[in-house]
Amino acid sequence: MFLLVLLASTLGLQAEKVGLLYMHGCGQSFDHPGNVDFKNFVEQNTGVTVHLIDAFNDLAAPPTESSITPMWIQVPAILEQVKNISAQYDKIIAVGYSQGGVIWRAMIEDWNNHNVDTFIAMASPQHGFADLPQDFLVTIKDYVIDSIQGASANNLRHNFLKAFLYSKKVQNVFSPSNFFLEPAMYNLYKNTRFFPRLNNEVGPDSEKQRQKKNFERLRKFVMVGGPDDGVINPWQSEIFGFRTVDRKIVSMNETEFYKKNLFGLRTLDEKGCTNSRTEQNSNAGQQGLQLSGSTNLLEVHHNGKSNSKEDQVTGVQAEQETQLEKSDPH
Ligand SMILES: *[C@@H]1O[C@H](CO)[C@@H](O)[C@H](O)[C@H]1NC(C)=O
Ligand SMILES: *[C@@H]1O[C@H](CO)[C@@H](O)[C@H](O)[C@H]1NC(C)=O
Repeated sequence: MFLLVLLASTLGLQAEKVGLLYMHGCGQSFDHPGNVDFKNFVEQNTGVTVHLIDAFNDLAAPPTESSITPMWIQVPAILEQVKNISAQYDKIIAVGYSQGGVIWRAMIEDWNNHNVDTFIAMASPQHGFADLPQDFLVTIKDYVIDSIQGASANNLRHNFLKAFLYSKKVQNVFSPSNFFLEPAMYNLYKNTRFFPRLNNEVGPDSEKQRQKKNFERLRKFVMVGGPDDGVINPWQSEIFGFRTVDRKIVSMNETEFYKKNLFGLRTLDEKGCTNSRTEQNSNAGQQGLQLSGSTNLLEVHHNGKSNSKEDQVTGVQAEQETQLEKSDPH
């Protein structure tokens, strides 16, 4: 529903031809049932064609192409495909789920004169993650440790694991480590290949300016996240918040990325281009936040309604939402 409202506002562009491109999350494939539901739902309700990006699917350790392939390999390859699809449209709506939203930000920053009108990041760790999700040890063991000779799962302890995530070996075989950002290990983060560059913390000035200009070109940037995510830690990263070294959670406008306006986030926010929604969904976890099926989309919207404190939807949108609600089948 919320997405429909956004799409409706995007479609206000009228005669322009608009397409939606959806990048799946880590561990998924493009044709995961939830993603197909999402496509059908949006197409049936809006008439906008949805392209589920068929690249870097599922889980398998490199050198196989999969969703844990390093970001610096995924991003340029997916962007080639995206440019090709986007050429059919005047404007596109970029939707990224979880890691897919980080991939999208990287593509947008790298793509000069892009035609992305609206960027919607769902349950996506835009400020990275600083702590490990519950099932991470299992994932690490299955997909990383088993692919690195001599590593012993028994020796793993939390902090060791964190430093381990920053090692070249893990960086090269496990994409989530590419957007790991533990403030207490800032120097290790800063030496990694992907995220500090994306965040314009390192790199030549000309490149920083280019990336910033591309990001600022967005007309609208929407983030959806929530405390029951269960995977992204802290979950506030999904709405560009984060936690500090002394474990205090700060909101987007208190982060260094925002305050220094490193890549244009503050520019967009000050122009009123940024919306974030906090969804409280009791049963869903990250899958629920994915909003990747019509049911989830509606459920999350309804569950989030009563207590979405950070809801910054404008009056106009709220009104449209109410009108749409009347024809809501649920
Ligand atoms: C671009 O799209 C065309 C037509 O859809 C296809 O034939 C071609 O292989 C695509 N090229 C790339 C690089 O994906
Ligand atoms: C920063 O964001 C918070 C939460 O969204 C908001 O309550 C606060 O007013 C903002 N501060 C400024 C200075 O804009």
